[in-house]
Amino acid sequence: MRFEGKTVVITGGSSGIGRGTVDLFLREGAAVVMGDIDSAEGTSMMASLGDAFHFKQTDVTQENEITALMDFAAEQTGGIDIVFNNAGAGGPRDAIDEISGDDWDFAMALLLKSVAMGIRHAAPHMKKRGGGAIINTASVCAFQAGFGPVAYSTAKAGVLHLTKLAAAELAQYKIRVNAICPGFIQTNIFATTLGANDAEKNQINTALGQVAAGVQPVARPGVPNDIAETVAYFASEAAGFVTGTHLLVDGGLLVGSQASWDPEMPGMLDALLPESMK
Ligand SMILES: NC(=O)c1ccc[n+]([C@@H]2O[C@H](COP(=O)([O-])OP(=O)(O)OC[C@H]3O[C@@H](n4cnc5c(N)ncnc54)[C@H](O)[C@@H]3O)[C@@H](O)[C@H]2O)c1
Repeated sequence: MRFEGKTVVITGGSSGIGRGTVDLFLREGAAVVMGDIDSAEGTSMMASLGDAFHFKQTDVTQENEITALMDFAAEQTGGIDIVFNNAGAGGPRDAIDEISGDDWDFAMALLLKSVAMGIRHAAPHMKKRGGGAIINTASVCAFQAGFGPVAYSTAKAGVLHLTKLAAAELAQYKIRVNAICPGFIQTNIFATTLGANDAEKNQINTALGQVAAGVQPVARPGVPNDIAETVAYFASEAAGFVTGTHLLVDGGLLVGSQASWDPEMPGMLDALLPESMK
């Protein structure tokens, strides 16, 4: 019960990583206030998760809805201690030489401005509490090409820098700000981004499990609880000296080329050896 007496606000908690995080914080004794655009799922969670769970339909691209979510959380529970700015989607998939300005603006609103406004409107409540912890969802896409669309990846890189700057500005109020960079986590985000129907969704999720198991040293896809545990760490007193940084939670996806960790792959030096030296 690490979070008894604490209030945590989680965006994008109707599905995937956010849902796993809702479950963890409820298990650990927190009051959880969840904001998501998906009101059907949020309402059904209200019916099943008990009195410590609160839901407010929230579109994180709209600043006034983020303000309303934070105010609602404080009204319902007395204040805010922890915020997980997590809602997101793959967004527009167009290449840089094809994307429209409007699509670019949408991706930034959904993935970057939403995090900035989440921090902006959580901070006054945390100041009243005498401190707090903010955790933002970035991605491995912030570091390398090839994992996500250009607008998505650019926004996620922005989330990392925003995390540092916010940590610097808010330290005086005892508010810590950190980010998590998930790798391949088995959620609906890939199917949703590709516009898949239910049957295609299942096929995509099965394929994701197989692909993820083969592209990184930890031979399995991530699950939402892998990220939830990291959120809990950043939110807890154990991380009291940790701010303005990020943690890759990616099964080693970014550790190096496949030859560096896969014993079946010839290494670069092996490729240099003449036959007589092999
Ligand atoms: N799954 C992965 O492999 C992965 C990897 C890196 C980063 N991420 C990031 O993790 C976060 C969560 O994604 P997920 O994988 O759990 O996906 P998901 O699709 O399972 O969940 C995303 C949630 O965000 C909500 N959402 C979408 N647009 C919204 C909006 N405008 N306002 C409010 N809520 C909205 C959805 O309704 C959904 O509940 C995202 O920020 C995503 O970019 C995911």
